[in-house]
Amino acid sequence: MFANRVLSGMRPTGRLHLGHYHGVLKNWLKLQHEHECLFFVADWHALTTHYDTPEVISQNVWDMVVDWLAAGVDPSQATLFIQSRVIEHAELHLLLSMMTPLGWLERVPTYKDQQEKLSDKDLSTYGFLGYPLLQSADILIYRANLVPVGEDQVPHIEFTREICRRFNHLYGRETGFEEKAQAAIKKLGGKKAKLYQEMRTAYQEQGEESALESARAILNDAQNLSLGDRERLFGYLEGGGRMILAEPEALLTEASKMPGLDGQKMSKSYNNTIALREDLDSVAKKIRTMPTDPARVRRNDAGDPQKCPVWQFHQVYSDDSVKDWVVKGCTSAGIGCIECKQPVIDAVQRELTPIHDRARHYEENPDHVRNIIADGCEKAQELARETMRDVRESMGLNLS
Ligand code: TRP
Ligand code: SF4
Repeated sequence: MFANRVLSGMRPTGRLHLGHYHGVLKNWLKLQHEHECLFFVADWHALTTHYDTPEVISQNVWDMVVDWLAAGVDPSQATLFIQSRVIEHAELHLLLSMMTPLGWLERVPTYKDQQEKLSDKDLSTYGFLGYPLLQSADILIYRANLVPVGEDQVPHIEFTREICRRFNHLYGRETGFEEKAQAAIKKLGGKKAKLYQEMRTAYQEQGEESALESARAILNDAQNLSLGDRERLFGYLEGGGRMILAEPEALLTEASKMPGLDGQKMSKSYNNTIALREDLDSVAKKIRTMPTDPARVRRNDAGDPQKCPVWQFHQVYSDDSVKDWVVKGCTSAGIGCIECKQPVIDAVQRELTPIHDRARHYEENPDHVRNIIADGCEKAQELARETMRDVRESMGLNLS
């Protein structure tokens, strides 16, 4: 079993490009070997801003899944699913909305930022205000503890942590908590029970973080605890009540070093991308027509790599000897720009070839893609249902 559970989502915004690959997907590829991973398509999140163009959503969802698989996300390692197919997310979102202070949502920095940035759209909607809360539901419903995201999403993870604490505070209390916690400790068995007690005291009286860690490790290893008892004992460590929902942590993804063709950040809105499924001739053509240092008007004008977007590509793709060759050749006018671009063309094509091979397989076998997603949705739903049973019960909705 893995100790960590990683969850991340992506809005379906169209075909993915090298910016996504170097920024997000390569990180996922690594994580899928190290932890239990859940990756999902956040189609409801896409609707918060694209509610007036639903026709693009469904095509984008499947394109994105194929791009993930093509990039090497491995469905035998990670669970891949679509948010709207696990409708428990919506139920948790609704239930969390009951206890979410409006001011908390209004204060999330992305709220006003995005409204200003996308000023051509009317984003004064209920759904858009609730964007971070829907994201909280996505995370909390799996009790995921690690959430790989970019810098821009960190406020959403912070918000999720606050919602989580508020939820546990409001609904984690139960009558006879102390007695139930004590009974649960007994179930750990002599040695572990004693250790747990000692660690709890060390943490509560001396504030020893390492004691807290060890006590949590004991609980993670305990096979014979019911879910309820486990939550009680996690909660008991820190005082309070049961920890029904688990506080996640942001796993900050380093900003991608992948520049766009014009040297700005690679982004669809700048029209400077190389798509993962871009055909290789088009890749060559796009790189060949990239702008270079404007000082190199003629072949024998010397240039400065610092002023050239191609140089940024060399930073990503070339080893020291090639980079050396570029600097010397550029500043002495010893090489031409077309010559300089060739190793970049070769490297990008080499990177994309296995991606294309996998993409072709999935394009030719759409049923395979659907099956992968059906499996993933089923697995995710099983986990989501477990959490929802506890959530419903704690909110007075256990009507059986
Ligand atoms: N808001 C995220 C983004 O725009 C996408 C997202 C939705 C997400 N739900 C999530 C990311 C849960 C991580 C965890 O990138
Ligand atoms: Fe850019 Fe290379 Fe031309 Fe120099 S030689 S301007 S680094 S493309």
